[in-house]
Amino acid sequence: MTVQLSLFEKETETDAAKAPRSDLVNVASVPMRSPFRYAGGKTWLVPRIRTWLKERGGPDKELFEIFAGGGIVSLTAIFEDLVGSVTMVELDEGVAAVWQVITQGNAQWLADKIATFELTPESARDAIARGAQSVEDLAFATIVKNRVNRGGILADGASFVKYGESGKGILSRWYPKTLKRRILEIDLVRDRIHFIQGDGFDICRLNQSRIDALFFIDPPYVKAGRRLYKYSEIDHERLFHQAYRLKGDFLMTYDDNIEIRQLADMCGFEMRPIAMKTTHHAEKSELLIGRNLDWLDD
Ligand SMILES: C[S@@+](CC[C@H](N)C(=O)[O-])C[C@H]1O[C@@H](n2cnc3c(N)ncnc32)[C@H](O)[C@@H]1O
Repeated sequence: MTVQLSLFEKETETDAAKAPRSDLVNVASVPMRSPFRYAGGKTWLVPRIRTWLKERGGPDKELFEIFAGGGIVSLTAIFEDLVGSVTMVELDEGVAAVWQVITQGNAQWLADKIATFELTPESARDAIARGAQSVEDLAFATIVKNRVNRGGILADGASFVKYGESGKGILSRWYPKTLKRRILEIDLVRDRIHFIQGDGFDICRLNQSRIDALFFIDPPYVKAGRRLYKYSEIDHERLFHQAYRLKGDFLMTYDDNIEIRQLADMCGFEMRPIAMKTTHHAEKSELLIGRNLDWLDD
């Protein structure tokens, strides 16, 4: 069975659910909650995340999403009451600024700024150039970049979309009402979301002895990472050693290749390939890795 999408995720101004196709897992049942369109985003994995957290989560558990990006796993866990609280960790300063502004009380400012912005190539360039002025400006600049750059890519060197959908150019992915609504909805649950700009490895290590902690680990992948993220270099072997030391349960996703399979084997972890479709409708398989993946059969 394959699941729909997703190097980049489909969305609209209304987020109206598309009719599910019979060969796809029902991704239409997954609400799009993130203000980001995130390269490597895990909306397609949400049905499995729900199964995992229904079995291993609960009100007394804290979920750590240590490579947060667009944060769809944390948002799903909180909105669907699958855990008591989440801690999101992200190294990228721009992405972090968005989460900081939303979780630290400035969501309304960001939502209003988006809703009243007149997007043109010039105003987009101007907003991006102002990003250095404050954390709020950086958050707004990051949202603009994420919406006008090809594929939403935030890494240096990414360019503006040229033609976009139906020749709409940079307006193709500018959905101000949708973004405003999503940001204000997150504001309503922000007391259960803790955000840290920092290194996911450090936060993992600091919480490795906690049995009430769960870890969702979705690092920059071995192959695609460099093109997609500013921070794409990670020590994959070190990450497996860190996962090995966790007392709490974890779920890791990776590209399916021999190097990663060897590391998982070495640590005695279980792994399952899971088929998915990219935006270009190519089928590929990603690996789910954990200490015990029996819950996948539920
Ligand atoms: C595969 S993406 C995560 C996508 C996310 N799961 C989603 O659904 O949107 C990996 C993320 O890890 C971040 N990153 C890279 N190195 C990091 C580190 N050492 N600590 C925390 N985040 C890091 C990158 O900036 C990128 O946003």
